[in-house]
Amino acid sequence: LAQPNRRGLVLIGYRGCGKSTVGKIVSARLGRPFFDSDVEIAARSGRSIAAIFAEEGEPAFRDWEERTIAALVSDPPGAVLATGGGAIVREVNRSRIRDFGFVTWIRADPEELARRLEADAARLDTRPPLTERGTLAEIAHVLADRAALYHETADVSI
Ligand code: S3P
Repeated sequence: LAQPNRRGLVLIGYRGCGKSTVGKIVSARLGRPFFDSDVEIAARSGRSIAAIFAEEGEPAFRDWEERTIAALVSDPPGAVLATGGGAIVREVNRSRIRDFGFVTWIRADPEELARRLEADAARLDTRPPLTERGTLAEIAHVLADRAALYHETADVSI
């Protein structure tokens, strides 16, 4: 509270919940820099997220994600950070995100997330399938695994 403007703002939540959209609006209103960890991973690796998944598998993508989040939270202070939907899976990311700032979990019903992801299929480069279940069943399954992690990381959920 002594330096409220230096506290970061982090958005977490499932794919399609609106982290990047909300993050851009909030950062513009507050005049703070905005970072999207998926965009940074693609820039740093020189590849799309789908290519990293396809060529090296999900664990290698999670390594990129961990390194990228570590870099983003060390500089600059006060930024708005939108994370990938699975960033909260690793404990080290959860703890870095919490140390960085105020964490908001953006929630939406699985049916709404599925509707948005299917409407946004052009983003398959950043959203390779996580399971072989199909959109709605995958969301229900993965969300059930992650809900407690989103909950424990967040200061508030909306
Ligand atoms: C993932 C979500 C994606 C991206 C990657 C993995 C996940 O981010 O990081 O495809 O595991 O939920 P968005 O939530 O920005 O789509």
